[in-house]
Amino acid sequence: MAASFVSVSFPSFKFKYLLIFTCLIGIVSAQLSTKFYDKTCPKAVKTITKAVDEAVSTEPRMGASLLRLHFHDCFVQASLISLIILCNCCMSLNIIQHGCDASVLLDDTANFTGEKNSFPNANSLRGFEVIDNIKSALEELCPATVSCADILAVAASESVGALGGQRWNVPLGRRDSITASLSEANSDLPAPFLDLSGLITAFAKKNFTTEEMVTLSGAHTIGQARCILFRNRIYNETNIDSSYAAALQAACPFEGGDDNLSPFDTKTSATFDNAYYQNLVNLKGLVHSDQQLFVNGSGITDGQVSRYSRNLGNFKKDFSDAMLKMSMITPLTGSDGQIRTNCHFINA
Ligand code: HEM
Ligand SMILES: *[C@@H]1O[C@H](CO)[C@@H](O)[C@H](O)[C@H]1NC(C)=O
Ligand SMILES: *[C@@H]1O[C@H](CO)[C@@H](O)[C@H](O)[C@H]1NC(C)=O
Ligand SMILES: *[C@@H]1O[C@H](CO)[C@@H](O)[C@H](O)[C@H]1NC(C)=O
Ligand SMILES: *[C@@H]1O[C@H](CO)[C@@H](O)[C@H](O)[C@H]1NC(C)=O
Repeated sequence: MAASFVSVSFPSFKFKYLLIFTCLIGIVSAQLSTKFYDKTCPKAVKTITKAVDEAVSTEPRMGASLLRLHFHDCFVQASLISLIILCNCCMSLNIIQHGCDASVLLDDTANFTGEKNSFPNANSLRGFEVIDNIKSALEELCPATVSCADILAVAASESVGALGGQRWNVPLGRRDSITASLSEANSDLPAPFLDLSGLITAFAKKNFTTEEMVTLSGAHTIGQARCILFRNRIYNETNIDSSYAAALQAACPFEGGDDNLSPFDTKTSATFDNAYYQNLVNLKGLVHSDQQLFVNGSGITDGQVSRYSRNLGNFKKDFSDAMLKMSMITPLTGSDGQIRTNCHFINA
């Protein structure tokens, strides 16, 4: 006898069921493999990494944007794990779960609602044209073979590597979703206004420990954020370095300029280093959630932040490991989902 919360999603609606069953559960899920395209598209990985290197050398921030695309893909929506539940009442259900399935890339259409207009993604995510260019090249090289989800996964690792971080060896064979979830994008992507406990909960929901949450937050050693997301912090919060706050106020006025950008890491925003943690120790975290990781030397995550601020190699290794784990969150495999030919739309 087992009790379990199961989230059942269909393209247009969603239910939460409490299923109590005395039954057999079969989890059908094929394995990802770094060799997945070795026979079917041997140049796949090279094609992706080369295009990412070019894009990042043209505009270093693109590395940050591509890393974030993968994160926002993996934390939301739709891997079809086929859970066949044979209950005593002979019920059989397909339970749909969620992961790195390129749902983040799907456009809204007249009959489809994607994730692009969710609060965390709208007017924020970027890098779609880089993914499109890679997809076009791959469709010419090996049609209908390489998934958009795998492109995102390889692009994230290469972006980190290109900016000086440690790449991870990306297992491949993810397939693309035929669904997306606007509501989950809104509920499950962490907001910059969260306190430490909220951050811990948001990552625990995706099976990440508090330590891994602190490690993954180090992604904010690259990239930029909009004024509207840190205005309250720089005008109202007290756990912020005063000269840092003053400099930010010059770029982010009290009123207006909502979309003005500031780098998370003022000095080395195009280098994947441990400056993010050095900034936190100096009360120079940009968004509220960043500074939550270091309070005053005695918070529960303060020690890890201090350690990373002193040990670059340690942070880079842990980050690479945590990203590898993120890249494997409930992927679609086997014959589930599809290989989209255009990452913006489900195949006709
Ligand atoms: C810990 C919880 C997190 C919160 C609350 C958070 C929040 C944010 C916010 C508010 C922005 C700025 C968005 C904008 O200005 O429109 C941002 C940017 C960014 N985030 Fe996070 N984030 C979190 C974790 C992560 C993780 C785990 C990663 C990747 C592993 C990541 C990677 C990035 C990157 C690279 C950028 C810069 C993107 C660019 O410049 O285009 N973040 N994040
Ligand atoms: C949904 O809209 C697309 C075009 O936006 C169209 O190609 C497709 O056939 C439509 N699907 C259904 C089920 O109506
Ligand atoms: C959760 O994370 C742990 C530790 O990384 C891992 O061993 C385990 O397989 C994960 N569980 C699921 C369901 O992904
Ligand atoms: C600062 O806090 C006050 C009081 O909570 C609030 O009214 C005001 O809008 C905040 N200012 C900014 C810039 O967020
Ligand atoms: C510093 O942290 C400790 C432990 O969390 C707490 O008891 C103390 O009040 C904090 N001090 C300040 C100034 O925030």
